[in-house]
Amino acid sequence: MTTKSLFAALLLLFMLAACAGTYDPTDDYESVEPVTMMSAPAARSPGASSDAAKRGRYLVELVGCATCHTDGALVGKPRMDRWLAGSQVGIAYSNPLEVDNPGVVFPRNITPDDETGLGRWTDEEIAGAIRTGVGRHGVAVPVMPWPAFAKLSDTDVNAIVAYLRRLPPVSHKVPDRVAKGIKTNELYVHFGVYRSRR
Ligand code: HEC
Repeated sequence: MTTKSLFAALLLLFMLAACAGTYDPTDDYESVEPVTMMSAPAARSPGASSDAAKRGRYLVELVGCATCHTDGALVGKPRMDRWLAGSQVGIAYSNPLEVDNPGVVFPRNITPDDETGLGRWTDEEIAGAIRTGVGRHGVAVPVMPWPAFAKLSDTDVNAIVAYLRRLPPVSHKVPDRVAKGIKTNELYVHFGVYRSRR
């Protein structure tokens, strides 16, 4: 190919690209099972029909605890058989574009399972973790929206605890927190604000 014909071919390509219309960033993506609202199943253990547990269910559904705390809810399809039993997919809490290995936290199992959930926690400990982030695993990273939940009234937080207590216990251990700078092979999503570099 002569230099002249190469130039003509490049020019043609350039013109075609220019005619292709405006760039739509979603063109290169396909949707992966969009997650919609999940309704909270009724608690099943004794006392589940108590007014507190009913209100707790209503609040858990309203606030969307399950969108983080249920496997498959962050990505894929919610595992309703593991409702509120923690997520294998973590959430990164620093910007992965800036930090190669961001810290990752895993929404924990909040069903009353003794070994992997909140079975051995007192009501006060659970209510404390929801409103102040402080529980048996230290201070929860504020990916868990406890700074917002700090405003829950005593009645409401106790209602949430009453509902959680009456869920069927599910044995499911989620991965441990991964500190910033440590590499993880676990899946994670990240919340971040991005600005185009171009
Ligand atoms: C945006 C995601 C998200 C939402 C919404 C959310 N959480 Fe969490 N939660 C987390 C993460 C992540 C952790 C673990 C944080 C850590 O390890 O530092 C956590 C931790 C907890 C813990 C501490 C458990 C333990 O074993 O240490 C409790 C209790 C809890 N959440 C209850 C709730 C309840 C109840 C709701 C709804 C009222 C809720 N969470 C909503 C993400 C979330």
